[in-house]
Amino acid sequence: MRWLCDFLNSSIGKKISVGLAGLFLCGFVVPHLLGNLLLFVGMAQFNAYAHFLQANPLTPAAELGLLALFLLHGTVALWARWQNWRARPVGYDTVASKGGRTIGSRTMTYTAFLVLAFLILHVAMFKYGWGSAFHDEELFQRVMDFFRNPWIAGGYALALIGLGLHLSHGFESAFQTLGVNHPKYTPFIKVLGVLFAVAVAGAFAAIPIWACFLGGAK
Ligand code: HEM
Repeated sequence: MRWLCDFLNSSIGKKISVGLAGLFLCGFVVPHLLGNLLLFVGMAQFNAYAHFLQANPLTPAAELGLLALFLLHGTVALWARWQNWRARPVGYDTVASKGGRTIGSRTMTYTAFLVLAFLILHVAMFKYGWGSAFHDEELFQRVMDFFRNPWIAGGYALALIGLGLHLSHGFESAFQTLGVNHPKYTPFIKVLGVLFAVAVAGAFAAIPIWACFLGGAK
C-alpha cells in the first residue's frame, strides 16, 4: 500500500494515474454514445438496449469500476492542480500562457467542474428519475420527457461543449504523459484528439437538439 501512496504522491505518478483513468473513461464514453444513438432508431430498440444493461449481472461491477475511475481521475487531477497553484501562486498564468496553449488546455479546470456538475445531475435524473413526473416509465420515455424541456436540452448542449473542450486537450495530454511524444506522431495525436472531442460531443449534443428543437420528442 505504501508504494501506491508514494506513487500517487509523486508528480509523475499523479500524471500517469490521471492520464490512464482519463483514457479508460474515453473507453466508457464511446459505447455509452453508441447505445444512446439508438434513441434515433426508435423506442423499442432503445428500451431493449436499456433492459439488456439493467438485467446484465456484470452491470453493477462495471458501474463500481466506472465510479472509481471518475473519482481517481477527478480527485488526483484537482489535487495536482492545487499543489501546482500553491507552489506558484504568482505569475503562473502569465508564464504558462506563452507556449502554444489552446482554449482546451486553458479551461481544463473549469470544464472539469462543468462536466462534474453535469454528471451528478445527469445520473440523478436519467438513472434515478430525479425530477421526473413518473417513476416506472421506460427509459426512452424518461429521456424524451426531460429533453422536451428547452432549458434541460439547452443545458445539455452547453455542458457537452465543456466536455468537448475537456476531451480536446485531455486526449492529447494523456498520450504525452504516457510517453507517446514524438515529432512524427504528436501532431497526428493532436488532430485525432480534436476530431475525437468534436465527434463525441457533437453526437451526444445532437440527441437533445433533435429531441427538443427538431421534433424528435413529439
Ligand atoms: C445526450 C446525451 C446523453 C444521454 C441521452 C444519456 C443517457 C443516459 C441514460 C438513459 C442513463 C441511465 C442508464 C440506466 O439507467 O441504465 C445514463 C447514465 C449515465 N450516463 Fe449518460 N447520457 C448522455 C450523455 C452522457 C455523457 C456525455 C456522459 C459522460 C461524460 C454520461 C455518463 C453517464 C454515466 C456515468 C451514467 C451512469 C452509468 C451507470 O451507473 O449505469 N452520459 N445516461
